[in-house]
Amino acid sequence: MQIITTSDGSNTIYLPGINEQYHSVNGAVTESEYVYIDKGFKFIKKKYPKVFEVGFGTGLNCLLTAIEAEKKKVDTLYITIEKFPLSQTITQQLNYGKIISKEALILFEKIHSSPWEKVIEISDYFQLKKINADLISFDFKQNEKFDMIYFDAFGPDKQPEMWTPEIFEKIHSITSENGVLVTYSAKGEVRRQLTTCGFVMERIPGPPGKKQMLRGINKKSTN
Ligand SMILES: C[S@@+](CC[C@H](N)C(=O)[O-])C[C@H]1O[C@@H](n2cnc3c(N)ncnc32)[C@H](O)[C@@H]1O
Repeated sequence: MQIITTSDGSNTIYLPGINEQYHSVNGAVTESEYVYIDKGFKFIKKKYPKVFEVGFGTGLNCLLTAIEAEKKKVDTLYITIEKFPLSQTITQQLNYGKIISKEALILFEKIHSSPWEKVIEISDYFQLKKINADLISFDFKQNEKFDMIYFDAFGPDKQPEMWTPEIFEKIHSITSENGVLVTYSAKGEVRRQLTTCGFVMERIPGPPGKKQMLRGINKKSTN
């Protein structure tokens, strides 16, 4: 595991074993802000949004969502799943808080020091539950629904077991009607599988270095 600096000055983690980074080398903060906040969180117009994230990782998507929730004063519940939580030695080397703002640094530390498996109030408008589990075998509570899905697994070529029809069915089953899913991937196969589940998918312009990304709206009720 190596910490590398991306082109906007924010850092990310590189895994030499699978030759994959947690974020784009064209800017970790830039990519997260664009894909998950601009095209996802800001797109849903919910008073009390419930967000589910696949892959908590460095906590960057979580941090940016907390900042946006505070800015807009929208009461947000953020549930995230992670199979391999990062050690404190690694998270302390991540510079997101430092390069964003003093408030961001405080939020980032709270997000990482909060206990797992419990809903924790991180700030006035942001509640967080971090789940340490494998999405593949994880059972969601019956009828648990989310308005916003951040699908942020490692790439389909690096981790194909996270991009299967079974996983997408599982994700669809926890997405509310008209709930929205965003992912950095623009692969045709991903788009087709999500469409089969009931998402109406669109390819939209991607973050720097990526021509396109995917966004879908759930038009098929699961109840
Ligand atoms: C692309 S990184 C996520 C980046 C993260 N959203 C961030 O902002 O740093 C993918 C994440 O998915 C996690 N992951 C991989 N397989 C998983 C699984 N089966 N269940 C849950 N999380 C998994 C990885 O450990 C990694 O943290």
